[in-house]
Amino acid sequence: MKVLGVSGSPIYDSNTDRALKAALEATGLEAEFIKLVEYNITPCKACLGCVKTNRCVNDKDDGIFLAQKAKEADAMIVACYTPYSTIDSLTKAFIERLYQLRHIHGCMAGKPGGAIVTCAVPGNNKMLPPAGDMGVNAIMFYMMEEGMNFVGAVKILGNVPCIKCGYGNECKMTGVKMIYGPNATVESVGINKFEEQMDALNAAGELGRKIAKALQDK
Ligand SMILES: Cc1cc2nc3c(=O)[nH]c(=O)nc-3n(C[C@H](O)[C@H](O)[C@H](O)COP(=O)(O)O)c2cc1C
Repeated sequence: MKVLGVSGSPIYDSNTDRALKAALEATGLEAEFIKLVEYNITPCKACLGCVKTNRCVNDKDDGIFLAQKAKEADAMIVACYTPYSTIDSLTKAFIERLYQLRHIHGCMAGKPGGAIVTCAVPGNNKMLPPAGDMGVNAIMFYMMEEGMNFVGAVKILGNVPCIKCGYGNECKMTGVKMIYGPNATVESVGINKFEEQMDALNAAGELGRKIAKALQDK
Protein backbone atom coordinates (compact mmCIF):
# COMPACT_ATOMS: atom_id res chain seq x y z
CA MET A 1 0.00 0.00 0.00
CA LYS A 2 1.37 3.39 -0.95
CA VAL A 3 0.16 6.85 0.02
CA LEU A 4 0.95 9.87 -2.12
CA GLY A 5 1.30 13.28 -0.48
CA VAL A 6 1.28 16.31 -2.75
CA SER A 7 2.16 19.79 -1.49
CA GLY A 8 1.36 22.98 -3.42
CA SER A 9 3.20 25.18 -0.93
CA PRO A 10 6.14 26.79 -2.77
CA ILE A 11 8.09 27.40 0.45
CA TYR A 12 10.48 24.65 1.48
CA ASP A 13 9.80 22.94 4.81
CA SER A 14 6.68 25.09 5.22
CA ASN A 15 3.92 24.48 7.73
CA THR A 16 2.00 22.80 4.90
CA ASP A 17 4.91 20.46 4.09
CA ARG A 18 5.56 19.52 7.71
CA ALA A 19 1.88 18.80 8.38
CA LEU A 20 1.68 16.68 5.24
CA LYS A 21 4.77 14.72 6.24
CA ALA A 22 3.31 14.17 9.74
CA ALA A 23 0.08 12.81 8.23
CA LEU A 24 1.99 10.56 5.82
CA GLU A 25 4.09 9.20 8.68
CA ALA A 26 0.97 8.53 10.76
CA THR A 27 -0.33 6.20 8.05
CA GLY A 28 2.49 3.78 8.90
CA LEU A 29 2.56 2.91 5.20
CA GLU A 30 4.96 3.50 2.36
CA ALA A 31 4.63 7.14 1.37
CA GLU A 32 5.88 9.50 -1.30
CA PHE A 33 6.06 13.27 -0.82
CA ILE A 34 5.81 15.43 -3.92
CA LYS A 35 6.58 19.16 -3.93
CA LEU A 36 4.70 20.61 -6.89
CA VAL A 37 6.98 23.65 -7.26
CA GLU A 38 9.70 21.24 -8.41
CA TYR A 39 7.59 20.29 -11.42
CA ASN A 40 6.19 22.10 -14.39
CA ILE A 41 2.42 21.86 -14.33
CA THR A 42 -0.12 23.86 -16.30
CA PRO A 43 -3.93 23.78 -16.06
CA CYS A 44 -6.22 21.42 -17.95
CA LYS A 45 -7.13 22.82 -21.38
CA ALA A 46 -10.51 21.04 -21.37
CA CYS A 47 -9.77 19.60 -24.83
CA LEU A 48 -11.09 16.15 -23.86
CA GLY A 49 -8.10 14.56 -25.57
CA CYS A 50 -7.76 12.20 -22.60
CA VAL A 51 -11.24 10.69 -22.80
CA LYS A 52 -10.44 7.48 -24.68
CA THR A 53 -6.97 6.86 -23.24
CA ASN A 54 -6.92 8.24 -19.68
CA ARG A 55 -3.77 10.01 -20.79
CA CYS A 56 -3.43 13.75 -21.28
CA VAL A 57 -2.41 14.89 -24.77
CA ASN A 58 -0.30 17.70 -23.32
CA ASP A 59 3.10 16.07 -22.93
CA LYS A 60 4.99 19.36 -22.73
CA ASP A 61 4.93 19.49 -18.93
CA ASP A 62 4.80 17.08 -15.97
CA GLY A 63 1.01 16.66 -15.94
CA ILE A 64 1.16 13.09 -17.24
CA PHE A 65 3.97 12.10 -14.86
CA LEU A 66 2.14 13.52 -11.84
CA ALA A 67 -1.17 11.92 -12.82
CA GLN A 68 0.64 8.60 -13.12
CA LYS A 69 1.89 9.03 -9.54
CA ALA A 70 -1.70 9.58 -8.37
CA LYS A 71 -2.93 6.59 -10.37
CA GLU A 72 -0.30 4.27 -8.91
CA ALA A 73 -0.97 5.36 -5.32
CA ASP A 74 -3.57 3.61 -3.16
CA ALA A 75 -4.45 6.82 -1.31
CA MET A 76 -3.66 10.50 -1.67
CA ILE A 77 -3.36 13.51 0.62
CA VAL A 78 -3.37 16.91 -1.08
CA ALA A 79 -1.95 19.93 0.77
CA CYS A 80 -2.31 23.57 -0.25
CA TYR A 81 -2.05 27.11 1.06
CA THR A 82 -4.52 29.86 0.34
CA PRO A 83 -3.30 32.96 -1.57
CA TYR A 84 -6.27 35.30 -1.93
CA SER A 85 -8.47 33.05 0.18
CA THR A 86 -8.56 29.94 -1.95
CA ILE A 87 -6.52 26.96 -3.09
CA ASP A 88 -3.12 27.93 -4.55
CA SER A 89 -2.75 27.66 -8.31
CA LEU A 90 -0.12 24.89 -8.36
CA THR A 91 -2.40 22.60 -6.40
CA LYS A 92 -5.37 23.63 -8.53
CA ALA A 93 -3.49 22.89 -11.76
CA PHE A 94 -2.44 19.51 -10.36
CA ILE A 95 -6.03 18.62 -9.50
CA GLU A 96 -7.30 19.77 -12.89
CA ARG A 97 -4.75 17.60 -14.68
CA LEU A 98 -6.02 14.55 -12.77
CA TYR A 99 -9.09 14.84 -15.01
CA GLN A 100 -7.26 12.49 -17.39
CA LEU A 101 -7.75 9.69 -14.84
CA ARG A 102 -11.51 10.13 -14.70
CA HIS A 103 -13.05 8.84 -17.90
CA ILE A 104 -14.53 5.37 -18.31
CA HIS A 105 -12.37 3.77 -15.59
CA GLY A 106 -12.59 6.31 -12.75
CA CYS A 107 -8.99 5.57 -11.78
CA MET A 108 -9.15 7.51 -8.48
CA ALA A 109 -12.60 6.22 -7.43
CA GLY A 110 -12.72 4.41 -4.11
CA LYS A 111 -9.28 5.57 -2.97
CA PRO A 112 -9.07 7.21 0.47
CA GLY A 113 -8.08 10.85 0.39
CA GLY A 114 -7.53 13.81 2.66
CA ALA A 115 -6.79 17.54 2.63
CA ILE A 116 -4.29 19.75 4.45
CA VAL A 117 -4.71 23.51 4.24
CA THR A 118 -2.60 26.32 5.68
CA CYS A 119 -4.01 29.83 5.77
CA ALA A 120 -3.11 33.08 7.49
CA VAL A 121 -6.64 34.16 8.39
CA PRO A 122 -7.88 32.44 11.57
CA GLY A 123 -11.08 30.47 11.08
CA ASN A 124 -12.92 32.61 13.64
CA ASN A 125 -12.26 35.90 11.79
CA LYS A 126 -15.72 36.98 10.57
CA MET A 127 -14.45 40.06 8.69
CA LEU A 128 -12.29 38.22 6.12
CA PRO A 129 -13.04 35.34 3.72
CA PRO A 130 -12.91 31.78 5.17
CA ALA A 131 -9.67 30.81 3.41
CA GLY A 132 -9.22 27.53 5.30
CA ASP A 133 -12.71 26.31 4.42
CA MET A 134 -12.27 27.43 0.81
CA GLY A 135 -9.09 25.38 0.51
CA VAL A 136 -10.57 22.31 2.18
CA ASN A 137 -13.69 22.51 0.01
CA ALA A 138 -11.66 22.74 -3.20
CA ILE A 139 -9.74 19.55 -2.38
CA MET A 140 -12.73 17.75 -0.83
CA PHE A 141 -15.01 18.49 -3.78
CA TYR A 142 -12.37 17.24 -6.24
CA MET A 143 -12.17 13.98 -4.28
CA MET A 144 -15.95 13.68 -4.00
CA GLU A 145 -16.43 14.33 -7.71
CA GLU A 146 -13.95 11.58 -8.54
CA GLY A 147 -15.68 9.10 -6.22
CA MET A 148 -12.80 9.04 -3.74
CA ASN A 149 -13.37 8.32 -0.06
CA PHE A 150 -12.64 11.70 1.57
CA VAL A 151 -11.70 10.83 5.17
CA GLY A 152 -10.79 14.22 6.63
CA ALA A 153 -8.95 17.52 6.65
CA VAL A 154 -6.33 19.38 8.65
CA LYS A 155 -6.42 23.18 8.93
CA ILE A 156 -3.28 25.00 10.05
CA LEU A 157 -2.91 28.64 10.99
CA GLY A 158 0.02 29.84 8.92
CA ASN A 159 1.82 33.14 8.67
CA VAL A 160 0.82 36.31 6.91
CA PRO A 161 3.82 36.96 4.60
CA CYS A 162 4.05 40.56 5.96
CA ILE A 163 5.51 39.10 9.15
CA LYS A 164 8.85 38.65 7.43
CA CYS A 165 8.85 41.15 4.54
CA GLY A 166 10.52 43.86 6.65
CA TYR A 167 7.70 46.42 6.30
CA GLY A 168 4.97 44.60 8.23
CA ASN A 169 4.56 47.37 10.81
CA GLU A 170 4.47 50.40 8.51
CA CYS A 171 3.13 49.28 5.10
CA LYS A 172 -0.39 50.64 4.57
CA MET A 173 -1.38 47.29 3.01
CA THR A 174 0.03 45.16 5.82
CA GLY A 175 -1.81 41.92 6.40
CA VAL A 176 -0.74 42.03 10.04
CA LYS A 177 -3.22 44.82 10.77
CA MET A 178 -5.76 43.61 8.22
CA ILE A 179 -6.06 40.28 10.01
CA TYR A 180 -5.24 41.12 13.64
CA GLY A 181 -6.48 44.71 13.96
CA PRO A 182 -4.99 48.24 13.93
CA ASN A 183 -2.91 47.77 17.08
CA ALA A 184 -1.29 44.52 15.97
CA THR A 185 2.43 44.47 15.15
CA VAL A 186 4.80 41.95 13.64
CA GLU A 187 6.13 41.35 17.15
CA SER A 188 2.71 40.92 18.82
CA VAL A 189 1.51 38.49 16.17
CA GLY A 190 4.68 36.39 16.00
CA ILE A 191 5.32 33.25 13.98
CA ASN A 192 2.74 30.46 13.77
CA LYS A 193 4.13 26.94 13.71
CA PHE A 194 2.23 23.77 12.88
CA GLU A 195 4.00 21.89 15.69
CA GLU A 196 2.68 24.36 18.30
CA GLN A 197 -0.96 23.94 17.24
CA MET A 198 -2.28 20.94 19.13
CA ASP A 199 -5.52 20.74 17.14
CA ALA A 200 -3.64 20.65 13.85
CA LEU A 201 -0.99 18.25 15.17
CA ASN A 202 -3.65 15.83 16.39
CA ALA A 203 -5.68 16.23 13.21
CA ALA A 204 -2.64 15.36 11.05
CA GLY A 205 -2.08 12.16 13.04
CA GLU A 206 -5.75 11.32 12.87
CA LEU A 207 -5.86 11.93 9.12
CA GLY A 208 -2.96 9.54 8.58
CA ARG A 209 -4.54 6.86 10.76
CA LYS A 210 -7.91 7.25 9.01
CA ILE A 211 -6.27 6.83 5.61
CA ALA A 212 -4.58 3.62 6.82
CA LYS A 213 -7.85 2.30 8.32
CA ALA A 214 -9.80 3.08 5.15
CA LEU A 215 -7.24 1.14 3.12
CA GLN A 216 -7.41 -1.76 5.56
CA ASP A 217 -11.22 -1.85 5.40
CA LYS A 218 -11.32 -1.77 1.59
C1 LIG B 1 0.23 36.06 -2.59
C2 LIG B 1 -0.28 35.61 -1.24
C3 LIG B 1 -1.59 35.90 -0.88
C4 LIG B 1 -2.10 35.44 0.32
N1 LIG B 1 -3.42 35.65 0.63
C5 LIG B 1 -3.96 35.04 1.71
C6 LIG B 1 -5.34 35.13 1.97
O1 LIG B 1 -6.10 35.78 1.24
N2 LIG B 1 -5.84 34.47 3.05
C7 LIG B 1 -5.05 33.73 3.87
O2 LIG B 1 -5.55 33.11 4.83
N3 LIG B 1 -3.72 33.65 3.66
C8 LIG B 1 -3.16 34.27 2.59
N4 LIG B 1 -1.83 34.17 2.35
C9 LIG B 1 -0.99 33.58 3.38
C10 LIG B 1 -0.71 32.12 3.18
O3 LIG B 1 -1.89 31.36 3.22
C11 LIG B 1 0.24 31.78 4.26
O4 LIG B 1 1.47 32.38 3.97
C12 LIG B 1 0.41 30.33 4.49
O5 LIG B 1 0.65 30.22 5.86
C13 LIG B 1 1.59 29.74 3.78
O6 LIG B 1 1.70 28.40 4.14
P1 LIG B 1 3.10 27.78 4.51
O7 LIG B 1 3.47 28.28 5.89
O8 LIG B 1 2.86 26.32 4.46
O9 LIG B 1 4.07 28.22 3.45
C14 LIG B 1 -1.27 34.69 1.19
C15 LIG B 1 0.05 34.42 0.82
C16 LIG B 1 0.54 34.87 -0.37
C17 LIG B 1 1.98 34.54 -0.72
